[in-house]
Amino acid sequence: MLEAVLEVWPSERVGVKTGPMMNELGLFKAVESTLPTTEYVYEKLNAYNLSHVFLMRQLADLSETPIAALAGDAVIHHFRKIYHGQLILNVGISREHATELVEAGLGDFVAFGRQYIANPDLVERIRLNAPLNEQRPEGYYGATAFGYTDYPFLNVKDLHAETEGASLSLRSGLE
Ligand SMILES: Cc1cc2nc3c(=O)[nH]c(=O)nc-3n(C[C@H](O)[C@H](O)[C@H](O)COP(=O)(O)O)c2cc1C
Repeated sequence: MLEAVLEVWPSERVGVKTGPMMNELGLFKAVESTLPTTEYVYEKLNAYNLSHVFLMRQLADLSETPIAALAGDAVIHHFRKIYHGQLILNVGISREHATELVEAGLGDFVAFGRQYIANPDLVERIRLNAPLNEQRPEGYYGATAFGYTDYPFLNVKDLHAETEGASLSLRSGLE
């Protein structure tokens, strides 16, 4: 599949999103044999000069599985050693955690999914260290605008005093 894409698209503009252990699908029995396969795939990806590999932490509870040791950030540490190109880290990562991960050299970028759905101005909020809107998971995967276009933009009055200076330059773009 990847090689078919690379026949028509320059490799440096192609990224691969990976879900290392497929545990979200409940394939726990397959997990033990899946890990060496996943390691093999990550090793092979080094040769393709890709834009990035998108590495996901696990959404599921791994504590009772054969890969309990890869829970949380352990999966990032594990595959960072195997894949040497640019990594985008994802799943359940906060602003502070993202900073720590990138500063530790464990990834090059961090992607935000659910926080972006809930905060139409997430970039500005991260820049200002502003509070985030509470997520409404019941709005995910819906067929209407509910949960897609009704989250509020930042109100600068909500900002802490210490971010006020930084907020001034952005005020015109915010409510
Ligand atoms: C409503 C919703 C739709 C999503 N749709 C996709 C999708 O189409 N393709 C995809 O690769 N990931 C999809 N994701 C997964 C996100 O890209 C991301 O991997 C996931 O939300 C975990 O990151 P987070 O903890 O920052 O939200 C979706 C997630 C949500 C909540």
